[in-house]
Amino acid sequence: MLNRRARVVAVANQKGGVGKTTTTINLGATLAAYECRTLLVDLDPQSNCTSGLGREPAAGESTSYEMLTGAATLAETVLTTEFPHLAVIPATPGLAGAEVELVGMVGREFRLRDALSPEALAPYSFVFVDCPPSLGLLTVNALAAADALVVPIQCEYFAMEGVSKLMATVDEVRRYLNPELAIDGILLTMYDERTRLAQQVADEVRGVFGGMVFETVVPRNVRLAEAPSFGRPIHAYDLRSRGSQAYLQLGREYLERTAVHGVG
Ligand SMILES: Nc1ncnc2c1ncn2[C@@H]1O[C@H](COP(=O)(O)OP(=O)(O)OP(=O)(O)O)[C@@H](O)[C@H]1O
Ligand SMILES: [Mg+2]
Repeated sequence: MLNRRARVVAVANQKGGVGKTTTTINLGATLAAYECRTLLVDLDPQSNCTSGLGREPAAGESTSYEMLTGAATLAETVLTTEFPHLAVIPATPGLAGAEVELVGMVGREFRLRDALSPEALAPYSFVFVDCPPSLGLLTVNALAAADALVVPIQCEYFAMEGVSKLMATVDEVRRYLNPELAIDGILLTMYDERTRLAQQVADEVRGVFGGMVFETVVPRNVRLAEAPSFGRPIHAYDLRSRGSQAYLQLGREYLERTAVHGVG
């Protein structure tokens, strides 16, 4: 695994609040805990991934905005965290401006891919890109740069709403920008086992996507919602919580899956 190029994974779903950022932080931190060198890229102007790790960029420090616009290299934007093997490229609300500026740029869909050059990725095994809740240029940059997607789906009403649009976008990206784009898995999140609805949604998603859906299901767990306000991944906030155990299990399943696919 050490000699392979990092696997770049976009955590994407244009539906808001489905668990993209929670999954980016906690799957990433889990893999780092398993000693995989992991980089998180915050590509959302809401910058929840950045704040959820307690790593606000200081004034004048470069962020994903500078990386996308070419004002800084990847290495210049990386912040370490208190966890070995886990680093983050932060975002600020100013990233919203990049979405507008990119429109006028040459190679606008490939700015992230160019920044994630083989040399820049050499120190990492996994890169997880936290996407914003839209299918705009920031998400398209992530999809064009990625080897694969992870798609969180919330086990609630309208869970499947917009998923077909996401899949249509994935098809277009494969056709025009990134033919090799794979789907590493669809993740059922915020599963409340006490409700029939959650079970119905899970059954429906598995019926449509079959083996693409991770066996691991992330339960609705208040500890997962609390952890970001302490700037910590769940395993460092409450290791014994059900949310923590779910992401630890997801990490193992993810490593098995990607190893089976011959990557890592
Ligand atoms: N399994 C869970 N159990 C309980 N709360 C959760 C769980 N997963 C996420 N949350 C909470 O739900 C909210 C939305 O989650 P999150 O921010 O990860 O979604 P998102 O898809 O990144 O949202 P956005 O589209 O706005 O970027 C957050 O407050 C988060 O802490
Ligand atoms: Mg988010």
